[in-house]
Amino acid sequence: MSNNFKYMTIAPSSSIKNAMINIDKNATGSIFITKNKVILGVVTDGDIRRYLIKHKKLNTKIKILMNKNFVSINSFETRENIFKITQRFKHKIRVFPIVNKKKELVDFIFDNKIHKIPIYKPYLEGNEKNYLLNCVSNNWISSGGYYVLDFEKKFSNIFSNRRSLAVTSGTTALHLALASLGVGEGDEVIVPNLTFAAVINSVLHTKAKPVVVDVDKYKWTISCSEIEKNISKKTKAIIPVHIFGNPCQMEEISKIAKKHKIFVIEDCAEAIGSKFKNKNIGTFGDCSIFSFFGNKTITTGEGGMILFKNKKNYDRAKKLRDHGMSIKKKYYHEEVGFNYRMTNMQAAIGLAQLEKYKKIVKKKIDISKQYKEILKNKKFLNFQIDEKKSLNSYWAIAVIVNKNFKFKFIEEKLNNAGIEIRNFFYPLNKQKIYKKYAKKKNYVTDSFYKKGILLPTYPSLSESNIKYICKNLESIITY
Ligand SMILES: Cc1ncc(COP(=O)(O)O)c(C=O)c1O
Repeated sequence: MSNNFKYMTIAPSSSIKNAMINIDKNATGSIFITKNKVILGVVTDGDIRRYLIKHKKLNTKIKILMNKNFVSINSFETRENIFKITQRFKHKIRVFPIVNKKKELVDFIFDNKIHKIPIYKPYLEGNEKNYLLNCVSNNWISSGGYYVLDFEKKFSNIFSNRRSLAVTSGTTALHLALASLGVGEGDEVIVPNLTFAAVINSVLHTKAKPVVVDVDKYKWTISCSEIEKNISKKTKAIIPVHIFGNPCQMEEISKIAKKHKIFVIEDCAEAIGSKFKNKNIGTFGDCSIFSFFGNKTITTGEGGMILFKNKKNYDRAKKLRDHGMSIKKKYYHEEVGFNYRMTNMQAAIGLAQLEKYKKIVKKKIDISKQYKEILKNKKFLNFQIDEKKSLNSYWAIAVIVNKNFKFKFIEEKLNNAGIEIRNFFYPLNKQKIYKKYAKKKNYVTDSFYKKGILLPTYPSLSESNIKYICKNLESIITY
């Protein structure tokens, strides 16, 4: 039952003044008129205001303002019906009474709390607020603060003590990683066709040429045979993206890179907590990058991190992160750098998130198991196949619908049931500005990107909501 329930009701014979006092305390803008627990009507603060402007009588009985044609929700109503009812009145009614079979008021619910399942919700239930407020109290909200150093240090501890550099986003992490490795004009960088555009954009910003290669049909990660086919004398780096949390074949990729003396930059934006052969993803490449955008497994609002295998590259990146300024001589610039520094406030949140990242990853893995269990025998869906001997941390649970349905259709139907979903990234070869970097005629992703769906995969997603999502998805597709 809601906390301020006791101020939600008033007797019909009570005065307008008392109703106003209760509305002030319940902070909902409404009050229910009840007699022997049975709800007779509803009055809003607007009804009272309009009455007082005309009549100015605070002692009038509240019942004269009562709206008897109110909308209520039965306590035994199904989720689907509750959602339908509240959707119908969503711009008119903010708070709905919940009644039992005898029409007695048992609770109330706000329109904006009713069964809306977002695609993602960050998990901020730890030290985030405390640490953030510390930044404000200590007057250190900008970059270079102690939380930044602590965040980097703790991050390194997780990843085999590789050197960490906190930056403003996953995108700037990619750009800075490439720049620190000296990737530039005349070089080629191999990127997968299925990825977020930040990957190819960062390559283009260095003036190197991206070479778009296909992904594995089942795992959706970069295909090793396609990497081999696309290596040239100009190839300087490969960016394997652990898409949706699924690790790439890092052993094979490392071998190819070693053989051809090319750099590997792992894109772990969606894969913190994933493992390949029991080793953390992010500890295979020359560099690896992470994103802490709001929908990522751990978040700092916007933010990113780079891990370095090699001190020389780390030192260069550290300088470039801060305008290329000499470490020894302040305001003397040795290179044309950037401002990619993370603030103390972002790092404060990041540190609090890091304290429970294992818990968040575990929750996500549990959620994916529940989805898979419910949907396992459904022939109309294909799941991403996990890389062998790896641990997928399931940034997002992704499925491809096998039947002849368009994403838009499924999205609309699920949205009507209060469920938010997302489509896959458009493959690079299907986007006008990138297709010139994709040489192949047909890519694996051509056959499924129109029907790929990301389902809600946030840590606090309940089991009953997962069942509800699956039930709705199944009923739309098998309709
Ligand atoms: C695979 C991948 N790489 C890079 C990025 C870029 O990260 P950010 O949004 O923090 O710039 C993202 C973000 O969505 C991503 O999914």
